[in-house]
Amino acid sequence: MIETRVLNPTDATLYEAAATLAAGELVAFPTETVYGLGGDATSDRAVAKIFEAKARPSFNPLISHVPDLDAAFTLGNFNKRARAVAETFWPGPMTLVVQRRENCPISLLASAGLDTIAIRVPAHPLAAELLRTVGRPIAAPSANPSGRVSPTTAEHVLAGLAGKVSIILDGGPCSVGLESTVLDLSGEAPTILRPGAVTAEMLEPLLGSVAAAGASAKIAAPGMLESHYAPALPVRLNAETAEEGELFLGFGEVSGPDGAETLSAAGDLTEAAARLFSLLRALDRPGAIGIAVAPIPETGLGVAINDRLRRAAAPRA
Ligand code: TXA
Ligand code: MG
Repeated sequence: MIETRVLNPTDATLYEAAATLAAGELVAFPTETVYGLGGDATSDRAVAKIFEAKARPSFNPLISHVPDLDAAFTLGNFNKRARAVAETFWPGPMTLVVQRRENCPISLLASAGLDTIAIRVPAHPLAAELLRTVGRPIAAPSANPSGRVSPTTAEHVLAGLAGKVSIILDGGPCSVGLESTVLDLSGEAPTILRPGAVTAEMLEPLLGSVAAAGASAKIAAPGMLESHYAPALPVRLNAETAEEGELFLGFGEVSGPDGAETLSAAGDLTEAAARLFSLLRALDRPGAIGIAVAPIPETGLGVAINDRLRRAAAPRA
């Protein structure tokens, strides 16, 4: 166990966080999607610490975070198409999978020995400042124990990883609330490996048609393991109401039963995404027998919300 400190962002704490990363230790930091558990992506040891802290199966590759597009271009091969996507959606809630460049310094452990690499330029100002200060790519999966609900506040990170991370930078709640879209541009057909706030509809003007990876996709991605993002209680989907003993998570106005919550009273998908993981945690209470979730429209951000909900409801290993 190590001492975990939750720090408010100042020039001094940001510098300390960067120095901690440079020394090969772990720092959790906010991005606009979810909090990341960061470690030096060029260090096998630091990357191994990430896997250990999350108790994550180590065949799952991690995302390398960089402060700007130029830094991204030094790590991966970006053709014209990939550059256009990067210029349009970075910084932002999107990860690109491209071919590794020949001298790419990223630890092979971070990319699970693949010839491809996942890169993201996050938009959160604290993340950007931290990445600029540390001056090297930072590997960061979501800052939660493997398989559990992703963290959207510093308190969520502390609840799952106290004693396993040196510093948690507290940047308040994440604005998007769902992990980034993972778009694979390494092959012929652009493929969304994990849906997120950058949707297929948004990408199609640049890319033409965009495929969505099905369950049979060949690359091992934790976002593709059937059970993931899971609270301890069982989750039941497309529920009109709660059964006896269940807690209800609605969408739109919710009038009951007692303890019922709504993802968005106004029926707004952006608000629902931002609140999803917090509410799944809040409803994950001993004494209840399950969480019943109302149907969510399968449009726009609803695609990503339903993806996370299906995994939260999937049979557990
Ligand atoms: O929003 C996010 O993406 C957060 C924040 C912290 O950036 N990070 C995150 O990381 O969700 P993680 O490790 O939980 O998810 C990374 C996703 C996984 O689905 C992983 O399999 C996929 O990216 N991935 C990473 N490298 C890949 C590669 N070379 N080929 C295919 N998929 C890859
Ligand atoms: Mg994750």
